[in-house]
Amino acid sequence: MTGKPESQDEMQSLLGRRIVLGITGSIAAYKSAFLARELTRRGAEVRVVMTPSATEFITPLTLATLVDNPVHSDFTENKEKGTWTNHVELGLWGDLFLIAPCTAQTMSAMVSGACENLLQAVYLSARCTVMIAPAMDVDMFTNAATQNSLYTLRERGVEIIEPASGPLASGLDGMGRLEEPEIITERVEAFFDVSLPLKGKNVVITAGPTQEPIDAVRYIGNRSSGKMGFALAGRLADLGADVVLIAGPVSLPTPPRVQTRIDISTAEELFEATMKVWPKADAGIACAAVADLKPKRATDKKIHKDEFPKTVELEKTPDTLAAMGECKLEGQLLMGFALETNDGLESAMGKLEGKNLDFVVLNTLADDGAGFSHDTNKVTVIKRVGVNTEMRSFELKTKKEVARDLVDMIFQINNEV
Ligand code: CTP
Repeated sequence: MTGKPESQDEMQSLLGRRIVLGITGSIAAYKSAFLARELTRRGAEVRVVMTPSATEFITPLTLATLVDNPVHSDFTENKEKGTWTNHVELGLWGDLFLIAPCTAQTMSAMVSGACENLLQAVYLSARCTVMIAPAMDVDMFTNAATQNSLYTLRERGVEIIEPASGPLASGLDGMGRLEEPEIITERVEAFFDVSLPLKGKNVVITAGPTQEPIDAVRYIGNRSSGKMGFALAGRLADLGADVVLIAGPVSLPTPPRVQTRIDISTAEELFEATMKVWPKADAGIACAAVADLKPKRATDKKIHKDEFPKTVELEKTPDTLAAMGECKLEGQLLMGFALETNDGLESAMGKLEGKNLDFVVLNTLADDGAGFSHDTNKVTVIKRVGVNTEMRSFELKTKKEVARDLVDMIFQINNEV
């Protein structure tokens, strides 16, 4: 890629990716501004960490403006208030830690495990892939000590974007120029492209509540926010899956990369939409809080209070998950949810069997922070293993983290799960 991105697709190639951009003290730090702009233009969310000496080459304000996020360069966020920069949080936040430019000094610190500035602390805390783009004078670059650092870092899994050859700030000519921002961006795009373990997988997810009309203004519904299902859809799409998200009435934006969203309102509509796509899916996740009953006779006019019948006759809605289980094909994986008000293990097991599921996720309203109205959830997953079952209980986590755990479990991305 050279020059400006041509298509909307290329523009959005990093949509939803979280990149920690580390900048160290090199004259090439000015190029980081272009790099930051390229990454954000392609949809990445970028947070910048600078070493103190990098701030002498380019101002944090420039970077903060370009990435629309505060820049971190100090362990203390606000000296008067005594707040500190949580390097662990930054290290865990990123999907990629890109250090560009990376000086010989920082490479050496990475090798030795030194922790003398925030950037080094973030490096030590990062669980994601680390990519460095070295920049220095030719003799520094070819020096055995630097080459040794590069060798060791590569051995440890750090991805190296080799510097380019050409005129250097010292006046010398040779290897050591920071690679051009466009080329670095290309490497970042390629990294995300190959690290998509769910590319080619089709997944259908139901999420949110349904609303079963009583009349033109009233309905039977529930308090589901849709957050859990949307977090699952987002995580799957981030890992490359082709996601069809069938969503009840919620006020949530479609997560980046989710290609198809079908908005439905009633259990019947949810059933129709899901059963159309399920036969072609590799996996299905039923996260919707579907109303099990609907008024037998709904009117499209508003019933005034003095006209209201004494009783509203109800009938069952179609059970989408049970229908998916009934026609499940060889190789298809199916996950359902069981929301219970107390223990509920037995009831969850009943759903695993009764609906022919591979996984059932139990969440209990009695647990603090679990269920509908929170950003967190606490789940126990029961997995079918041949004729037996395995159970795994997770801590209280954000719904996004729970989504990671569940997706890892369905697709066995992380072996320890
Ligand atoms: N489900 C569905 N269609 C329905 C009802 C439920 O797809 N009409 C799915 C939900 O998305 C969830 C699971 O089935 O994954 C919940 O199972 P269910 O037996 O309906 O649980 P509850 O709604 O809690 O019902 P019960 O009162 O029987 O526990």
